[in-house]
Amino acid sequence: MKLKFIFLCLFFVNYFLIFFQCSSNKVVPNICFNKDILPIFISKCTTSGCHSSISGQKAIGGDFTTYEGILKKVKPHYPLLSDVYTECNGKNPNMPPAPNTPLTTKELDYIKYWIHIGAKNTIDCGGYECDTTNISFSKRIQPLLKTWCIGCHNSNNSGGGFDLSDYEGVKKSIIPNNRLIGSVFQLINFDPMPKGKSKLNDCDLIAIKKWVNEGYQNN
Ligand code: HEC
Repeated sequence: MKLKFIFLCLFFVNYFLIFFQCSSNKVVPNICFNKDILPIFISKCTTSGCHSSISGQKAIGGDFTTYEGILKKVKPHYPLLSDVYTECNGKNPNMPPAPNTPLTTKELDYIKYWIHIGAKNTIDCGGYECDTTNISFSKRIQPLLKTWCIGCHNSNNSGGGFDLSDYEGVKKSIIPNNRLIGSVFQLINFDPMPKGKSKLNDCDLIAIKKWVNEGYQNN
């Protein structure tokens, strides 16, 4: 009898554990492909020759610089049957191969949820205002670089010799000849950034320009 009771307890404990594990899967509202999903692929997967078609050559492992290319490895509504999710998920994910920066839990959640709700090509992510007052490095510039640039510009993989993962590294892309501004505004004689992608949105460009012009404080 006692044993039966213990088994019953164990059963219920297990049930609650499973239940809470599943319900901790947060719902992420308003996922927009262009703002939330594409930057992950550009920054984490199109590093030095991978997943991007450079000068007309076929992309190795599929082209992840466009919606159409990414969709080839997606089964809408089924994240667990979608290579772009399964290959990057887990303790030792296949992708991106070491020593490249793995996807964060948040990025994986976003991709999973985006696939789950149908993997739509949402381009107009509108609805947010461009706040250009008090541009701070830690609150505005660094998160932006994290989204769009750091997959290719970190300590393991410094695209063009620029590690943009901390303030000092970013400063080196400004002094002496402002390659940061030249590259993100895609000016002549600079390598256009983010590599393989059209310019950042106007709000991000204004923020970078303002932060640089105001003396690129580490604030
Ligand atoms: C897919 C990888 C990739 C992404 C994403 C990327 N870069 Fe680059 N970046 C490179 C590579 C590689 C180079 C070296 C030049 C080249 O091959 O185009 C480079 C060069 C640069 C340079 C030097 C440019 C010059 O003209 O000397 C700057 C500055 C730069 N990147 C900043 C950025 C910023 C800022 C972002 C994000 C908005 C970004 N990069 C996103 C790969 C990338």
